[in-house]
Amino acid sequence: MPDQYLTGEKTHLVAFMPSGKRGRFPDGTPILEAARTLGVDIDSVCGGRGICGRCQVDLTVGKFSKHGVVSRADSLSDFADAEEKFKERRGLKEGRRLSCHALLKGDAVIDVPASSQVHKQVIVKQADDRKIEMDPAIRLHFVQVLEPDMHNPTGDFERLCLALKQQWGLDYMECDLRTLQALQKVLRDGKWSVTVAIHRDSRITKIWPGFHNVAYGLAVDVGSTTIAMHLCNLSTGEVVASAGMMNPQIRYGEDLMSRVSYVMMNPGGEQLLTEAVRRGINDLITEVTDKAEVDPDDILNAVFVGNPIMHHLLLGIDPTELGGAPFALTANSGMTVWASEIGMMSNPDGRAYFLPCIAGHVGADTAAVILAEAPHLQEQMTLIIDVGTNAEIVLGNNERLLAASSPTGPAFEGAQISCGQRAAAGAIERVRIDPETLEPRFKVIGCDLWSDEEGFAEETAKSGITGVCGSGIIEVIAEMYLAGILSTDGVIDGSLAAKSDRVVADGRTFSYVLHRSETELKIYQTDVRAIQLAKAALHAGARLLMDRLGLETVDRILLTGAFGSHIDVKYAMILGMLPDCDLAEVQGVGNAAGLGARIALLNKTARDEIEEVVKQVEKIETAVEPSFQQYFVEAMAIPHKTSPYAMLAKSVNLPDPKVLSDTSGGGEGRRRRRRRG
Ligand code: FES
Repeated sequence: MPDQYLTGEKTHLVAFMPSGKRGRFPDGTPILEAARTLGVDIDSVCGGRGICGRCQVDLTVGKFSKHGVVSRADSLSDFADAEEKFKERRGLKEGRRLSCHALLKGDAVIDVPASSQVHKQVIVKQADDRKIEMDPAIRLHFVQVLEPDMHNPTGDFERLCLALKQQWGLDYMECDLRTLQALQKVLRDGKWSVTVAIHRDSRITKIWPGFHNVAYGLAVDVGSTTIAMHLCNLSTGEVVASAGMMNPQIRYGEDLMSRVSYVMMNPGGEQLLTEAVRRGINDLITEVTDKAEVDPDDILNAVFVGNPIMHHLLLGIDPTELGGAPFALTANSGMTVWASEIGMMSNPDGRAYFLPCIAGHVGADTAAVILAEAPHLQEQMTLIIDVGTNAEIVLGNNERLLAASSPTGPAFEGAQISCGQRAAAGAIERVRIDPETLEPRFKVIGCDLWSDEEGFAEETAKSGITGVCGSGIIEVIAEMYLAGILSTDGVIDGSLAAKSDRVVADGRTFSYVLHRSETELKIYQTDVRAIQLAKAALHAGARLLMDRLGLETVDRILLTGAFGSHIDVKYAMILGMLPDCDLAEVQGVGNAAGLGARIALLNKTARDEIEEVVKQVEKIETAVEPSFQQYFVEAMAIPHKTSPYAMLAKSVNLPDPKVLSDTSGGGEGRRRRRRRG
């Protein structure tokens, strides 16, 4: 109990909920002041002037024996003029009070709603109700500054700092030159009342005349294929608009290495790539601000995550060194730059934060995945895989964390596959094959029906059936294996051509006809090989990391990235993309890198946390590990040459590998033994 108030005058007991903090204060003490004295978390931008409405509370009436308080309707003063005005202007819920103007008149229990708490928690991940405490790097503060006085000459900036110290307890402020250049006019336009945006409690980054109540931030995941952006309200944490686009750099190369080659072969090419990605980001800013009807000038903070090459190009740094060993990064720490320095069409004085990169192959996007999934805070041994052109792999728990990237190539994204295509309307995304008849049925993106259901042809007439996307490729090859069309070595069994016209000869090998139309969609032997190579690289990378930790199995596996979140994890396991694991512990977690960016946007401490964690991450260079080749060869088999996949076999009736590799036998016996339950 604060004893500075125990002066003998009339005092009242006030208890704040949900914190339970309580204390005795003199009659007439503003509730906000009592809360601050007790360290109760109540928000404010206007500093108690009745303008911002962030400090709202509820008086709870009743007898609370636990707190020794009888709280009555008249325990607070009558509605003040400022509250009436606020209610007229912006509305106020029934019973709500502005704590800066409601005065203590009797013992009271005050409820602080979540929306009024400075460090309110917001749900950042619906699936598991993941919450994050709001503590953004940018905060707004309204202040009244002393006018200049000839007899006491101090600068406008110094008087602004004095006001921030006296009214907000903020000390040792620094200021951008651009803010200083605008300061005198803004102070006079605002009649000495201004709102300042302060970055990380220490640097004034923006100043407005009068009261300004809104600040927004961007969380941006810059992938080599797509860019995804969320516009967030920095006081509520709410995502007010989202947008995504193909990365415009694609015209300079489909994959990262071809873009680096473009830079190497074309003087000035890096500038073109930088301009392309920045232009894309500005297009997305226009889209999200239009959607949410937000002024781009109110965007004061942004967080970017991306692989090392995207990270460098967005910053305008030549990525040539990342194109070959030793894959040296220009800088791997987290960094903050002015929005104007990277050409953002938001408030030029806003700040853009880049998460740290882990290594030359493993970027800020992987750091963001770690931040989002927090393996470093758990005892469970977690394997996280971000499947893309390169697979980024993280393995560990609260004791050790390892990271690597494995060169899977673009096969999982549909490239290098004869009928492969990006995930778009008309692409086959789900496949089932009848093990008796070998007839397939499938689903395509943009249609909810299976191909053997009534109405499918009409519904897909417009898009057509144009190819197979990454998840469809995983499924069709895994289903071919389950149906006995593929041996464990990945060979299409030509003897089945005698039984089904779905298996057809193609020179010296065979292919499987997935769909017949004017253009047939076929899975060739070379397609199966491309997927085997990709999945073997992924599996071998994971295996190397497990070796480092002396593990035979992991407790759980998380698949992230656009592709990782679309594939059916069961089929990824059947193919042997992932090491054996209890299927119940394998899940797709969506765009974890984007979520990590959002967490870093809403909570500045999370930035410090991930910077520390990244320093501890052990980086493994898979290509130079002597056992990589052996693991790679073993992982070429489906699901694996030596691992029995005993845990997977509990959930899926896997074919008997001995029978499958015997390609001289007839199809009948094989299929009888491998039929799924
Ligand atoms: Fe701003 Fe009360 S603190 S309205």
